[in-house]
Amino acid sequence: SFQPDHILRVTAQDYTEACNTRYSVLVNGSSPGPELRLREGKVNWIRVYNDMKDENTTIHWHGLTAFTAPFSDGAPAASQWPISAGHFFDYEVKPEVGTAGTYFYHSHVGFQAVTAKGSLIVDSVNDLPYSYDEERTIMLSDFFNETDKTIIDGLTSSDFTWSGETNALLVNGKSRQATNSTGSCQLASISIEPGLTYRLRFIGATALSFISLAIESHNVSIIEADGHYTKSVHTSFLQIGSGQRYSVLLTAKSEDELEKAGKRHFYIQLTTLARPETLTNLAVLQYSGGTGANLTTVPSPPPLPVAKIAEGWLDYELESLSPIYEFPTLDEVTRRIIIEVHQNVSDHVIWLQNGYEWVESFPKSPYLVDIYTGKLNTEETYQRAISRGNGFDNITRTFPAQIGEVLEIVWQNEGTFTNGGLDVHPFHAHGRHFYDIGGGDGKYNATANEERLKSSRPILRDTSMLYRYRNETDPLAPSGWRAWRIKVTDAGVWMYHCHSLQHMIMGMQTVFIFGDRNEVIAQSAPVGVGYLTYGGSAYGNST
Ligand code: C2O
Ligand code: CU
Repeated sequence: SFQPDHILRVTAQDYTEACNTRYSVLVNGSSPGPELRLREGKVNWIRVYNDMKDENTTIHWHGLTAFTAPFSDGAPAASQWPISAGHFFDYEVKPEVGTAGTYFYHSHVGFQAVTAKGSLIVDSVNDLPYSYDEERTIMLSDFFNETDKTIIDGLTSSDFTWSGETNALLVNGKSRQATNSTGSCQLASISIEPGLTYRLRFIGATALSFISLAIESHNVSIIEADGHYTKSVHTSFLQIGSGQRYSVLLTAKSEDELEKAGKRHFYIQLTTLARPETLTNLAVLQYSGGTGANLTTVPSPPPLPVAKIAEGWLDYELESLSPIYEFPTLDEVTRRIIIEVHQNVSDHVIWLQNGYEWVESFPKSPYLVDIYTGKLNTEETYQRAISRGNGFDNITRTFPAQIGEVLEIVWQNEGTFTNGGLDVHPFHAHGRHFYDIGGGDGKYNATANEERLKSSRPILRDTSMLYRYRNETDPLAPSGWRAWRIKVTDAGVWMYHCHSLQHMIMGMQTVFIFGDRNEVIAQSAPVGVGYLTYGGSAYGNST
């Protein structure tokens, strides 16, 4: 009989982080949940049980291409009915060969991903382009005092209430929250040995925070971004938006160097960027031998780096290492889709993409299910979108595309129709990764940008930053663009959204439909009848 390779159980319960207890959604009883290690090219069946009493859930495999099984992408309203309380769903997860790297999984329902998540590492079947002795995973997340429910109610009600800013930054689930110095919570400690080379896998699993971080007295070299190896870039700091991942190589100090430094622990220093309030945290890089750092004290003042947002950080600089390189040039682009991002303050505060907000309850059944059942006609949807000129079909509220097209997708940061609301957004694409072809101030200019690309090898990523470029005289003036290029190869329904959980809840999400119905069905293993109804599973003997 059918046996899943991994089992994850989602619960909701009181949970203590950063010296605070909060009602939180957890995977296997902790946050972060267990680290999953998958092998590229291998099919893994992952069964997710929803052990909550009255909430839906799903799990999304953030950054994995999911093209062999679009129904397993874990996006409610797009790729599957959410898993109802007391039910399970079997996910078919097959990391594509050539995409070994750093990922994470998280719930895609409401605000659950603030705690319901864990790291997902894809191990390579081939030799690695970089060598190292050991590796460590460093997951960054946010702690909010308010519960998921209070935050969602506030963000979606007509007397809009902001979630509040992040109350604590967490490193591997740990923090000594500045406002509470009495609890027993500790700083995260990453233990290393002198003289070895480490691969540090940083995962931006924050709800809201855009983080700058540096390691005291250690520089690092970036070797991976979002599951793809890059040419090595030496740096003294990293900037990580929600949804982004970087691997870096760190050469540990020798015994001699440690002696000279007069200590065996160094601080990893984090600070938030581009928010009205700046929040900081520390973690410890602890060398073995001698006594460890006191993890309940924060040195005062903490040795924090001067962290200022670096707009355009690594744009045109971070280059692909892949020997197989199929970057489509501007001549090959068949269609450009410009998505203007606005904030609208009317009844409540919402984020719009080309004038539309995403409403989780619209449509009633998931797009992919509607394609299977024939309720959504992919051909008509495509024709309507093309005839409207901007690629958006206002009936289904989707961006349809045909297999073989080469799309250029441009995000324009347009601020607000009234006032306020110009923000930094980490935009994320489900499905296949896009070539990140840059970003800048003002409006996108294709010819000028192509000139800049001539001397570089754009990387594939799944999350990149739409910045808010500073305009000193008019800080809220529309500013900034981010552009992607993508070959449409994988039939399925793919969400494209800002990865800030608050912004998602406020409407900043959209859906791309790749391929027609036959192609969608052909792409996926046959799904069981259970998949087509709420409370069912694609496989297995779901009740
Ligand atoms: Cu990690 Cu749709 O997101
Ligand atoms: Cu956003």
